[in-house]
Amino acid sequence: MNAIIVYSGGSNTTAVAQYIAEKTGGKAVTVPGTAEIDFSAYDKVIIGTRVRAGKVPSDISEFVAKNKASFEGKAAFFLCCMYNDDKGQRQLDKIASQMGIQKAVFFNKGKKIVKEAGNPVDDFIASL
Ligand SMILES: Cc1cc2nc3c(=O)[nH]c(=O)nc-3n(C[C@H](O)[C@H](O)[C@H](O)COP(=O)(O)O)c2cc1C
Repeated sequence: MNAIIVYSGGSNTTAVAQYIAEKTGGKAVTVPGTAEIDFSAYDKVIIGTRVRAGKVPSDISEFVAKNKASFEGKAAFFLCCMYNDDKGQRQLDKIASQMGIQKAVFFNKGKKIVKEAGNPVDDFIASL
């Protein structure tokens, strides 16, 4: 898989983005690092972000709105959040629908779970 991970957030989001990059042999970049990127060179474009007060950072939502057409059909989304239940799923559904990305998952305690064997991030990678 030739993946690029574009992310916005703090330690949890960064840990998950870097983990996916490591596992897939891909590249993880923050939004400012995307200026020169040709998305047609990748077969997966993974968008990752944290959420605060129900909202994602504006840099990532603006990035997706601006570039979505160039990665239509190969995008996937992960959200780092504080829930690990139905509330997390409902929050994810709302945000993924706003972003316009169908394939979406949420992770609770991202920094911690990537250190565990057989974690949910592995399942997400396997599903791509
Ligand atoms: C001010 C603040 C607001 C937050 N609001 C939400 C929220 O609305 N929904 C949620 O699921 N998590 C919320 N969280 C939890 C973070 O999304 C969660 O800890 C996430 O893993 C943080 O990712 P990061 O370490 O990449 O910043 C909030 C955290 C903070 C500090």
